[in-house]
Amino acid sequence: MKNTHKIHLKTWGILFFIFFVNLKISTTFAQTDNLYNLGENIVNILKSQTPEKITELTKQDDIDAKASVLQSFLSVKDELSRIDDINNFKYFNTFNNEKSVFIILEKGNKFYIIKFHLSPENKLTGEFKLISGKLDNELSLGERIYKSKCFACHGKVGKGGIGPNLTDNYWKYVNNEDDVTTLIAKGKKGTMIMAFENYLKPDEIKAVTTYIKALKNKKVSGAKKPEGDKKNITFHLFE
Ligand code: HEC
Repeated sequence: MKNTHKIHLKTWGILFFIFFVNLKISTTFAQTDNLYNLGENIVNILKSQTPEKITELTKQDDIDAKASVLQSFLSVKDELSRIDDINNFKYFNTFNNEKSVFIILEKGNKFYIIKFHLSPENKLTGEFKLISGKLDNELSLGERIYKSKCFACHGKVGKGGIGPNLTDNYWKYVNNEDDVTTLIAKGKKGTMIMAFENYLKPDEIKAVTTYIKALKNKKVSGAKKPEGDKKNITFHLFE
């Protein structure tokens, strides 16, 4: 009697797991708030011994999408592996624009960006591509400045300290995207926010601003509790 009970529990456990995992994959994770999780999931598949699992994120009956997604995914893995051991690329964050989704990876003080496409139902459709350009360089410069000028008060990767946590959706002084640049450049009288235009060149202000935007929704351990109001501000990292 007891044993049957145990077996039942196990079966239900497995069913629940399958249901939960599938539900997570198919419905929720590509919503903007969950982009972080989507990217993390994809990076885990990329680093795993079973990269073909990426096809589970395409539409079930779309053979063409499965083929192009898998082929391009494997070439991105190959390209990265030629630079360094794939496990040395750390997941940073994920952003989207109207057309594409972008995963940001970090290795040392260098950033790498993987671009791909999602259908309106949040299924992978288009090809994976490793893109390089302005943004990855800007992030590297931004991080260097962050570490020398902001880290002391805002903590490791923006988790907060004397200053607020910069990874959450709560802001005290920022109400829109442009406020981030203005605040960093001009500072705010009567607060600890300094006018960094007195210490940094315009391209450095721009780079550190980009880095701050790239921290949004990133999960960091030991993050300081939110301060200010919850504000839904979209950062256009990838135009
Ligand atoms: C001396 C400590 C200190 C340093 C250094 C510092 N900050 Fe801050 N920062 C703060 C504090 C404190 C606040 C919140 C002020 C308040 O609550 O009145 C703040 C607020 C901010 C905000 C606004 C957050 C919000 O909720 O609206 C941003 C953005 C910001 N800092 C970015 C930066 C950047 C980028 C750098 C480096 C270039 C930096 N800070 C360096 C202490 C610091």
